[in-house]
Amino acid sequence: MKGIILHGGHGTRLRPLTHTGPKQLLPIANKPMSQYALEDLKTAGITEVGIIIGDVYPEKVKEYYGTGEKFGVKISYIYQAEPKGISHAIRLCKDFIGDDKFIVYLGDNVLRKNLVDYKKKFESSDSDAMILLCEVNEPQRFGIAELDKENPGKIIKIMEKPKNPPSNLAVIGIYFLNPKIFEIIDNLKPSWRGELEITDALDMLMKKGNKIEFDTVTGWWKDTGTPEDIIHANKLVLDSIGTENQFLVDEDSKIKDSIVIGSGTEISRDSFVTGPAIIGKNCKIGPSVRLGPYISVGDNCILKNCNIEESIIMADCKINAKTDLSTSIIAHGSEIQDNQIPKKQQFLLGERSNLKI
Ligand code: DAU
Repeated sequence: MKGIILHGGHGTRLRPLTHTGPKQLLPIANKPMSQYALEDLKTAGITEVGIIIGDVYPEKVKEYYGTGEKFGVKISYIYQAEPKGISHAIRLCKDFIGDDKFIVYLGDNVLRKNLVDYKKKFESSDSDAMILLCEVNEPQRFGIAELDKENPGKIIKIMEKPKNPPSNLAVIGIYFLNPKIFEIIDNLKPSWRGELEITDALDMLMKKGNKIEFDTVTGWWKDTGTPEDIIHANKLVLDSIGTENQFLVDEDSKIKDSIVIGSGTEISRDSFVTGPAIIGKNCKIGPSVRLGPYISVGDNCILKNCNIEESIIMADCKINAKTDLSTSIIAHGSEIQDNQIPKKQQFLLGERSNLKI
């Protein structure tokens, strides 16, 4: 079985963070979000992975993942010139997939539980597709599955972001498929948003008499479409950071009480980190810094005099400000200096921002 990771799209809801790179490379607990997808596929025994790249800095994706060797997989890159929909992206993979069953993983989805059991189930079943469902609070934001009231083990309809959702069961962005889907996509019409929707393809597959089964997600699942989603995903991953090796970033890091500290990082005696937290390599923390809970700090950051909680500070940032930051995302190489205003602030800073407050 091969795997596909969708790494295209425009990431408009995450601007300015996506002005300088694809959203799927934004870090969650110091690891690009799409790496969670790649590692999940690898853990499930998939070693041949196709990555769909679009026109938002595709070279950054290639630079990070390379041939896949350092992640223990073989990666092929498949170019999607325009984000014409998830089904459109899948159709581009027909030659890469060949005749076997395969898994499609949206590069902005993060799942608590790995895919091992789901993959086994699909491999040994005669279904033409398997989807994973998860109860959500805002079903209008997702693809939704409607189950048969008399036979709740059966799906009767799959639809994309309905205005009046018939259920709160979201179809998450991990799809188990076989090559029958390609012919279905060839007959698909673009939706109202001009995309070839995966939900329409699945619905048509089902309506043509093919078998679709589903499983429900245990543990959490996160679609990281907005900055708030990213902060939340960061929290969810950090919650298991001390206990789950799957979320560890590098082997040299030290872990204590759900705090991970990268090699070469120095923390001054008058500074304090409250877990869960992750701090990358070669950072200088202090004087007078309070970090956490729920903070991810990338490599080579210099932080002085600040209090930061529930935030993501990417690599190479410098903050020297008597400020309280909360629920913020500060992109690579940004700098914040202050004018000594001691109140809570919230920022969403793109790469190499320079802020004087
Ligand atoms: O996260 C789950 C949801 O993902 C599902 O419930 C929906 O049914 C499904 O349509 C999708 O909805 P989104 O609106 O969140 O999809 P988005 O446009 O954000 O694209 C999902 C990922 O696929 C994202 O990483 C970008 C990538 N992508 C998207 C399109 C449209 C591509 O690589 N190429 C594309 O053409």
